[in-house]
Amino acid sequence: MRQPTPSAVRDPVETASRDELAALQLERMRWSVGHAYANVPHYRAKFDAAGVGPEDLRSLADLARFPFTSKEDLRANYPFGMFAVPLREVVRVHASSGTTGKPTVVGYTRRDLDVWADVMARSIHAAGGRDTDVFHVALGYGLFTGGFGYHYGAERLGMTVVPVASGQSERQVQLLMDFGATVITSTPSYLLALAEEFDRQGIDPRSTSLRIAILGAEPWTNEMRREIEDRFGLSAIDLYGLSEVIGPGVACECAETKDGPHIWEDHFYPEVIDPETGAVLPDGEPGELVFTSLTKEAMPVIRYRTRDLTRLLPGTARPAMRRIEKVTGRSDDMLIVRGVNVFPSQIEECLLKHPRLSPHYQLELWRDERHLDQLDVLVEMKPEFAAADAAAREAAARELQHHVKSMVGVTVRVKVQPTGAVERSLGKAKRIVDRRPK
Ligand code: DLL
Repeated sequence: MRQPTPSAVRDPVETASRDELAALQLERMRWSVGHAYANVPHYRAKFDAAGVGPEDLRSLADLARFPFTSKEDLRANYPFGMFAVPLREVVRVHASSGTTGKPTVVGYTRRDLDVWADVMARSIHAAGGRDTDVFHVALGYGLFTGGFGYHYGAERLGMTVVPVASGQSERQVQLLMDFGATVITSTPSYLLALAEEFDRQGIDPRSTSLRIAILGAEPWTNEMRREIEDRFGLSAIDLYGLSEVIGPGVACECAETKDGPHIWEDHFYPEVIDPETGAVLPDGEPGELVFTSLTKEAMPVIRYRTRDLTRLLPGTARPAMRRIEKVTGRSDDMLIVRGVNVFPSQIEECLLKHPRLSPHYQLELWRDERHLDQLDVLVEMKPEFAAADAAAREAAARELQHHVKSMVGVTVRVKVQPTGAVERSLGKAKRIVDRRPK
């Protein structure tokens, strides 16, 4: 008789009480902070300088006494200086590309890979994926954590995994049709590029067997979610993660509520801080998300500043596990245009509400002859309006400009490009092009 896959049932910790979870967190946090202090010179030096040590951790709140860790710390210890175990015990490395300078390198022991597969299996299961599903992975495999993270989680769940990776959109469409995939992962922007490829081939994207898309790796709005759900006729789930903390699978939405990703708090302890002062903010207040790994062996992170902006919210579908509000912005992506703070997601929200403009966009920042920063929004007409005349394009541009002015408070120039002219990404979309002189 066929045995059920162990991971296909819910992990008992998902139904723990908040008190049980807090006790587990404290025990694991003590271990993790002690492990970092004992085995990573960087942490020892930083904790010593701050006058704190593992013995000071008597309650979860004591974590606030410890110094933060930043991407710069990881870069300064490139490549393996943050590892807490000998290289012999590290069985995998990944790296996040970064736009400038050296990549940040992360490492995993065999047990870390096991935990990663577990939290990914748990995430996919929460998203509604089951061992009967065919899972199409259209994320990059390689140093990027996306493809491998989903791959091992889906295998652990017992799904039929199709490791297509990203790119070659024409073939993606063929494989989706031929293999009858029921669940897909990619970035939200690439899934929209795939929708276009379906249209190009004259195949209705709603005619696939897809029922769930588990998307992440870049900020995306709920408006973008609705667009994806409409185009494909499926349920789109938000999955969050970052390489430094483990990769994808730090937090995931549950199919029954879709109200922001639940953090798997038995492995990743969250805080939200004021990005200016570093003060820990109460749950519900917006700020920068910070994580402390609780079980990672190869590369523990203590109070790692993600630069992602969100709020901590109470658990719903998994009551003990807090949620994050959908991450729609990073502090790095905030543009200041003539004194107004602008996030790409705010423009995205306005754009997705426009009936004749397509969801593909890019923002160009430049400086005019008076040395003032200007923001151009590059967009396209939807294919069904592609033949529109100059006046109709002008009108669409004006409408979006007006909407952005009233919603975001900044005057932008909207440039309606020919269909296909706005850059399509295979992975993380590049939303901002900075053309200002350095
Ligand atoms: O992007 C891991 C991942 C892969 C997550 C696939 C989800 C799906 P990094 O390349 O290290 O790791 O980039 C991490 O991407 O700090 C966020 O700014 C952003 N990000 C990731 N997931 C989401 C999401 C992977 N669901 C950085 N919503 C993070 C918004 C996200 N932003």
